[in-house]
Amino acid sequence: MLLALPPVCAAAFDTSFALKPPSRGPHTLRAKPLNAPHTMELPRVIGHRGAKAVAPENTLASIRAAKACGCTWVEVDVMLTKDKVPVIHHDVSSCPCVTSTLASSPPFPPLPRVVCASDTHTCTRDTQNTLDRCTDGEGNLWDYTVAEIEALDAGSHFSPEAAGERIPRLTALLQCCRDLSLGLNLEVKHVTEHAPEAPTAREQEMEEELANVVCDTIEKLNVQPSDLAFSSFSRPAVAVLRRRLPHFRCAFLVEAIPDDWQQFMAAHQCLSLNFDWKNPANTPARIEACARQALCYSYTVNDGEVAHKLLSLGVRGVFSDCPHLVSDALARLDRQDCQAAAAAAAAAAAPAVGADVLGALVRSSSESQLRLVDELGV
Ligand code: G3P
Ligand code: MG
Repeated sequence: MLLALPPVCAAAFDTSFALKPPSRGPHTLRAKPLNAPHTMELPRVIGHRGAKAVAPENTLASIRAAKACGCTWVEVDVMLTKDKVPVIHHDVSSCPCVTSTLASSPPFPPLPRVVCASDTHTCTRDTQNTLDRCTDGEGNLWDYTVAEIEALDAGSHFSPEAAGERIPRLTALLQCCRDLSLGLNLEVKHVTEHAPEAPTAREQEMEEELANVVCDTIEKLNVQPSDLAFSSFSRPAVAVLRRRLPHFRCAFLVEAIPDDWQQFMAAHQCLSLNFDWKNPANTPARIEACARQALCYSYTVNDGEVAHKLLSLGVRGVFSDCPHLVSDALARLDRQDCQAAAAAAAAAAAPAVGADVLGALVRSSSESQLRLVDELGV
């Protein structure tokens, strides 16, 4: 009897699945190739800035926390110091901000979001580069040398126990991921708060410079395409990354999904479109339509129900500050989906004779397969 089961159940019934050794981690699946030479998908839950809810973001402590949370891949942000050393950092808040609510598209819940609403001071919240919130420094990161940046405390803002944590160099971050066997989504940061479709000449120059320095570092350290995927909001940076390292995956990052996303991704052979689920322009219908055309990932998802809804629309994975909580919630919701599908299939298959008994048998079979899924960490 053939049962129409959700994908996770179908994977559990594929007996060959358990025999394949995981190449990177148990969540890793081979994607249908789009245009890029390296097309291995990222897992469905990726640690955001390491595991931002568990340890100070964008630090080595956060990478270790993500590993402890069960992540197989992490995302961090890279920028350049005044003396052109790539370091891991990103923030936009250097002025007094207020919390307001950004309306998402139903059925997604509205979430509190920090936005700057000051009209009483000179707002310096105009770059992606400020030190104020996450360190004991202030101002823009690119105005300081790497020696000055490395002297800052990047842990105390999170907790007293994290005091002394530093902004890491890209080289140290890569080494840490390698030591922990973690895949790395390296976000090559843009210069302004919102990446414009047409940056100024100076912005373009800075973003291209960063992308080139990052490529130099990746080459020097002999990082393998299986271990790293790029992403960027910056169109100039994406162009450099694709030209210099075309065998690495690269995602096009967006807030609202722009009308020309397919043309841009095709022109630069990007592997995935990574969008902000909270942006009201990204309606479920829009997301579903995009996910039919390309691999899609979404940030930043800290609610299991939202992650489940996004995955049901065809999104392949989410970036989360609390990856362990979202993974646990998804496992629970997958189990409920499988049980409902199995019960429905049983009822449809044998409505007249012992549907209850058959349903119980299918449920029990589904549950034992799901235990296998849990053990494999799918
Ligand atoms: O890559 C997903 C996400 O990190 C993009 O936004 O601002 O957290 O770097 P942000
Ligand atoms: Mg990022």
